[in-house]
Amino acid sequence: MKTIAVISTTGGAGRTTLAATLAVLLARRGRDVVAIDFDPQNMLGAWLGLDALAPHGIAHALTGASHAWHAHTWRNDDGVLFVPHGQVTLDEAAACDTQLAAQPQWLENAIAEIALPESGVVVIDTPRYPSRQAQQAARAADLVLCVCPPDPAACAAFVAHLPALREACGDVRVVVNRLNPAREMQRDVLAMLRAAAGGLPVAQRIHMEAALPEAFARGAWVIDEAPHTQASHDLHGLAQHVDARLPEIEASIAA
Ligand SMILES: Nc1ncnc2c1ncn2[C@@H]1O[C@H](COP(=O)(O)OP(=O)(O)OP(=O)(O)O)[C@@H](O)[C@H]1O
Ligand SMILES: [Mg+2]
Repeated sequence: MKTIAVISTTGGAGRTTLAATLAVLLARRGRDVVAIDFDPQNMLGAWLGLDALAPHGIAHALTGASHAWHAHTWRNDDGVLFVPHGQVTLDEAAACDTQLAAQPQWLENAIAEIALPESGVVVIDTPRYPSRQAQQAARAADLVLCVCPPDPAACAAFVAHLPALREACGDVRVVVNRLNPAREMQRDVLAMLRAAAGGLPVAQRIHMEAALPEAFARGAWVIDEAPHTQASHDLHGLAQHVDARLPEIEASIAA
C-alpha cells in the first residue's frame, strides 16, 4: 500500500479536484483506492458523488468523539473507498489541531489501520500548507504531489516551503495546474519555478479547462464528458505517471 498526499501552498490551487480525479483514475486502472479527506472544508465527498457534506468522518476520531471512522466510509461509483473529514465546529477544529500537534504520527497510524493489498493506494486531500493536516499528510506519504498554479505569487510561496516539504517526504513532485501556454507570463513563471526549485521533477502539467468545473457542477467527470480536451489528456497522464511511479517507490523502499 502506498500513500499519496496532494498538497499546495496556496488556496484554490486544485488539490481537491486533482485528489478526486486521481483517485478515480487509479481505481479505473484496477487499483484498490482509499481517498481520505483530511481538509476541514470537507469538500472531497462532493467530487466523489455525495449530494451533501458528510456529517461524520475522520475528524471525529481525532477529537475522540467516535473511534469508528471506518463506519463513516462510502464507496463511490468507481469503487473508490472514501473517508470523509466530517463537519466540525470551530471548537472541534481547534481540538483537532491540538490533537495533531500532540500526536505528529496520528494520520500515519490511522492509515496503517487500513487493510489494503500491496498494490493499493491511499490518496489524501489536505488544507493549504502549512497546516498540521498537510504536514501530517506529507509525513505519512510515499509521494507528495504539490499542486501549483503558474502564477508568480503561488510559485514564490511554493519555493519558500519546498525545503520543509522535502524534509517531510523524500519524493516531492510538482503538478502545474490551470496552465494556459498562450500567456507568456506563465512560460516565464514555469522557467522561474524550475530554476528556483533546483531540478524538481514536474509530474504533470494540467491545462486550464472550462469544462472541468462545468462537469463537476453536473456531477460528472471532465474525463468522461470532454475526453478529448487537453486537460482530460493531462489528467490521464498524471494517473499514468503515478501508476508507473508506485512500483519504483516500492523498489526504492525494498533496496
Ligand atoms: N485545470 C483546471 N481548469 C479549470 N478549472 C479548474 C482546474 N483545476 C481546478 N479547477 C477549478 O478551480 C476551483 C478550485 O479547485 P479546488 O477546489 O480543487 O482547489 P483546492 O486547492 O482544493 O481549493 P481549497 O484551497 O479551497 O481547498 C474549482 O472550481 C475547480 O473546478
Ligand atoms: Mg480543496
